[in-house]
Amino acid sequence: MTKNILISGGAGYIGSHVSEILVKNKKNIFIADNLSTGYKRLINKKAKFYRVNINNKEKIKSIIINNNIDSVIHLAASLIIGEGEKYPKFYYKNNVLVTQNLMSACVGTKVKNFIFSSTAAVYKDGLYKVTEKSITRPKSVYGKTKLKAEKIIIKKCKKNNINYGILRYFNIVGSSPSGRIGLINKGDHLFKNLSIQTYKKNPVFKIYGANYNTADGSCVRDFIHASDIAEIHFKVLEKINRSNNSKILNCGYSKGISVKQVVKEFKKYTNKNLRIIEAPRRQGDLIKIIASNNNLKKFINWRPKFNSLKKMVKSSLKWEKSLIHK
Ligand SMILES: NC(=O)c1ccc[n+]([C@@H]2O[C@H](COP(=O)([O-])OP(=O)(O)OC[C@H]3O[C@@H](n4cnc5c(N)ncnc54)[C@H](O)[C@@H]3O)[C@@H](O)[C@H]2O)c1
Repeated sequence: MTKNILISGGAGYIGSHVSEILVKNKKNIFIADNLSTGYKRLINKKAKFYRVNINNKEKIKSIIINNNIDSVIHLAASLIIGEGEKYPKFYYKNNVLVTQNLMSACVGTKVKNFIFSSTAAVYKDGLYKVTEKSITRPKSVYGKTKLKAEKIIIKKCKKNNINYGILRYFNIVGSSPSGRIGLINKGDHLFKNLSIQTYKKNPVFKIYGANYNTADGSCVRDFIHASDIAEIHFKVLEKINRSNNSKILNCGYSKGISVKQVVKEFKKYTNKNLRIIEAPRRQGDLIKIIASNNNLKKFINWRPKFNSLKKMVKSSLKWEKSLIHK
């Protein structure tokens, strides 16, 4: 069994959900985060928190050694597609070099397992349903940096007998039923934007690109709830530890939902002043992509719990409402 787990980026949206499930399962968790896009209020009360840049190899190594860390979950990264196009050097540094440093810090310690949050953005555009063997050809700078990081992890882990789990997330949405954690960053996140707008007096829903070659003209994504993704981390970690196995796994529901379908669902909860704007396409956006999740299902016997659009929209709105009333 794993015991002492270091989570890089544990003060972020996904990190807080992963922390919650690990604490529930009696793990000791240690969070390393520089709070660049994370928040103190998202840090799990049971975690030991270090405010540190993951690039600081010496400090990270001492955290790993002093706390007898056996597993690392690496979530710290920069992840806004448009920002990556504007600042490619920074994205390279924060996603590739940070990963390299973190991996080097693990070598020669008791770290036996390494989980990495990768993304669907590593795949070639236009493939639609992708397996882990599908062609990787990232369109965005963000996707390129994540693919580079994957390669570093695989090489270093193989060389040093560390099990790895590379999780290629599709689009994460929703918030924990606990009501304590959720997405704060605005980024350019569809569900977040729509949740914010839903509660405005004069809401505006933006659809970036409505003339794509898809059934309704908008982009198609495989949305997955944050609580399901958190559970995947826990189960994959336990499995790679038990079986001494390493895997790359797509994490999605294997179900395509268009941006327009999402807008339609949110529309049910807002007022009559709603304006829907068809805005220009965003650079770097994939047209349509969904996960083949057979490998994930097989590997951990996975059954999603929050896989309905209605549940995902409702949970996003519930969290947004709680932020308004804070
Ligand atoms: N949210 C999604 O839909 C999605 C999809 C695919 C992949 N991912 C991946 O999941 C991971 C977590 O994303 P998130 O949505 O929780 O984002 P987030 O911005 O909420 O979390 C990232 C956390 O990492 C921290 N961080 C960033 N750079 C750091 C550094 N150099 N040193 C220390 N801390 C640092 C930030 O302060 C933040 O707390 C990322 O690696 C991202 O690429 C997210």
